[in-house]
Amino acid sequence: MDSILVTGNGPLKGQIPIAGAKNACLTLMPATMLSEEPLTLTNAPRLSDIRTMTTLLQSLGAEVSTLQDGQVLAMSSHDINNHTADYDIVRKMRASILVLGPMLARDGHAVVSLPGGCAIGARPVDLHLKALEALGAQLDLKDGYVHAKAPLGGLKGGVIDFPLVSVGATENALMAATLAKGTTIINNAAREPEIVDLAQCLRKMGAQIEGEGTSTITIQGVDRLHGATHPVVTDRIELGTYMLAPAICGGEVELLGGKRSLIEAFCNKLEAAGVEITENENSLTVRRGDNRVKAVDVVTEPFPGFPTDLQAQMMALMCTAEGTSVLEEKIFENRFMHAPELIRMGAQIDVQGGHATVTGVEGLKGAPVMATDLRASVSLILAGLAAEGETTVSRVYHLDRGYEHVVRKLSSVGAKIERIQEQ
Ligand code: EPU
Repeated sequence: MDSILVTGNGPLKGQIPIAGAKNACLTLMPATMLSEEPLTLTNAPRLSDIRTMTTLLQSLGAEVSTLQDGQVLAMSSHDINNHTADYDIVRKMRASILVLGPMLARDGHAVVSLPGGCAIGARPVDLHLKALEALGAQLDLKDGYVHAKAPLGGLKGGVIDFPLVSVGATENALMAATLAKGTTIINNAAREPEIVDLAQCLRKMGAQIEGEGTSTITIQGVDRLHGATHPVVTDRIELGTYMLAPAICGGEVELLGGKRSLIEAFCNKLEAAGVEITENENSLTVRRGDNRVKAVDVVTEPFPGFPTDLQAQMMALMCTAEGTSVLEEKIFENRFMHAPELIRMGAQIDVQGGHATVTGVEGLKGAPVMATDLRASVSLILAGLAAEGETTVSRVYHLDRGYEHVVRKLSSVGAKIERIQEQ
């Protein structure tokens, strides 16, 4: 297993291009199964999770070709010849559950392995299943698999009332409803930019959707969808992560493709901490001078709140802030696993249930640390950039799931970072 060696070496300067969003691409890809005509995605990120989704779609009979060094995904689902998403693929990536809605809507039946728990929480899929039941699907759970069948004549429009906001369940419901007969209303829908991106792509394919980006989405089912070409929206979590690099090390970095509207709540917290953010035509510039950042409290919430996917990285910044901050994690029950690793680097953090109290220290010290999940791994890299001496982050396969060319991007703004390949 490879590791990443980071040596703290002061302020950063330069530009970092931000890729297309992993979490948008992972829901746009299964949308190919809603149509027999080709769906082409541009601005796709080059990540191992995208390769896993490619393998899953191919296992179902879809054609997926990667062009332009992986930035273009040309897909066609004219011949879906297998309707079982196998445990061996699904267990690697929870987003695999997103093939359920499209496959069921198009062909009237689907079998998908249940994903199981994961490091950051139990993460059940009950809301995905309830949403499909509201569209008339009959579901059986057998041997760890969901066996789903649509009524004769296909799924029917219905009212879906989510008791809590779920990004994935909203996506599955939205995709399935595009081909259901009649009108579907999704109440308490997720409002994330990835949902808006999915709705925009589906509309290009001929779907009739209103209200994406609000809590109520209305879908008028159509008989068939056609082909389309769609650019994946900017990755707001990669954007926020790299905005934290100059915030934690000092310096000035321009994030190409960055837009404030994608992460307004995060920008407000960064500014409250004393970091300068300037919005340009197609980028954000982040600057911190010699001042130490100030402690700010953070509560993670569904969009437009502060994203849980930036909580670990924000904690790394708070470890070096002046004062004490409280980070409250409200989305996942076990998403503080980076805390003990940050403590190994000299951070002062006290975790009690869903709250982490961080008392900023003047400086962190490099140490060998271990990545436990995707966002935790990058928070340790950020901490390493600001620490004195060397930090080795092991288990970087987590990082490869969600950050393309992390070494190249951070080196280009002056960070001392390298990947150590296992012999
Ligand atoms: N939940 C249920 N039942 C369900 C679905 C969700 O109880 O059927 C709960 C979850 O356990 C969680 C909460 O609802 O406590 C919210 O989960 P959500 O369904 O919104 O999350 P997700 O769709 O599984 C996506 C992202 C995550 C991101 C969350 C929250 C993708 C592929 N993943 O997951 O991304 O943290 O939304 O914003 O879109 C990451 O990229 O590092 C990552 C974990």
